[in-house]
Amino acid sequence: MRIATPELTPEQIYKLMTGIVVPRPIAWISSLGPGGKVNLAPFSCFTFVSNMPPMVGISIGRKAGQRKDTANNILAHRHFVVNIGDETLLDAIHASAEEHPPEISEVELLGLDTLPGETIATPRLAAAPISLECRFHSVTPFGDTGAEFFVGEVLVFHIRDGLARDGKIETELLRPVCRLGGPNYASLGPIVTKKAVRQTPKSIMPRDATPAAGSAGDAAAPTSAQAPASKEVP
Ligand SMILES: Cc1cc2nc3c(=O)[nH]c(=O)nc-3n(C[C@H](O)[C@H](O)[C@H](O)COP(=O)(O)O)c2cc1C
Repeated sequence: MRIATPELTPEQIYKLMTGIVVPRPIAWISSLGPGGKVNLAPFSCFTFVSNMPPMVGISIGRKAGQRKDTANNILAHRHFVVNIGDETLLDAIHASAEEHPPEISEVELLGLDTLPGETIATPRLAAAPISLECRFHSVTPFGDTGAEFFVGEVLVFHIRDGLARDGKIETELLRPVCRLGGPNYASLGPIVTKKAVRQTPKSIMPRDATPAAGSAGDAAAPTSAQAPASKEVP
C-alpha cells in the first residue's frame, strides 16, 4: 500500500501518525488555570529534547482552532508540571482528557491530591511516581492545524523513593503506561537487555558553536516560510 500525503485530511493523517509513532510515553501535565484551578490533561506527543539543561517537549494541538487550556495556561504562567503516571493511574489519565471549560479543574473532578510545587507555583500530582517541575522555554508552531511544540526546562525531578538506583530509573518498578493508536494503551512487556554499545561521552558545547535556533548546523538555513517562530525565555 502507498498513500500520498496530499490526498489525506488532517483526521486521516492523525490516525496514521498516532498508529505509526508508537508506543508513546504520556506527559500528564498539570498547569494553573483561571483562579488558580489546577488543570490536568495527558499528552503523548512527548519527548525530551536536551539533557543539559534537561528539557522536555510536548506537541499541543488545537480544538476548533483554539488553544487547549494547557497551552493557554503555560503561556499565561510560564510554568507547568509533567507528571508521569503508572498503570494504577491509567483510568484517571484517560479520563483527564475529557474537555471541560478552563475554570473546571480535572484534578478536583477526579479527586486527585496535589502537592505544592517547590520551584514553581504549579502543583504536582501526589499519586504520580515521577513529576518534573518545568519552566516554559519556547513554543514553535508546526503545520496547518495550529499545533505547537512547547519546550520546558526541568527545574526539579521528583522521583518516588526506591524508584531510582545509581541515578537510573528502575522501569519495572515505575510500571509506565504508553499510548498507542486510538483509545488504546499498553504497559510494560518483557524487558530485553543487550550488551551496552560504547558511546562517546557527552560534552558541553562552547556557546558560539551551538547551532542557532531554527538552523541545522551546516545544512542550509530554513527559508523564512520554514523558519520556526520560536520564542525563548531567558
Ligand atoms: C493518552 C492521551 C494522549 C493525548 N495526547 C495529546 C497530545 O499529544 N497532544 C494534544 O494536543 N492532545 C492530546 N490528547 C488530547 C488532550 O488530552 C485533550 O485535548 C484534553 O482535553 C486537553 O485538555 P486541556 O484543554 O485541559 O489542555 C491526548 C489524549 C489522551 C487520552
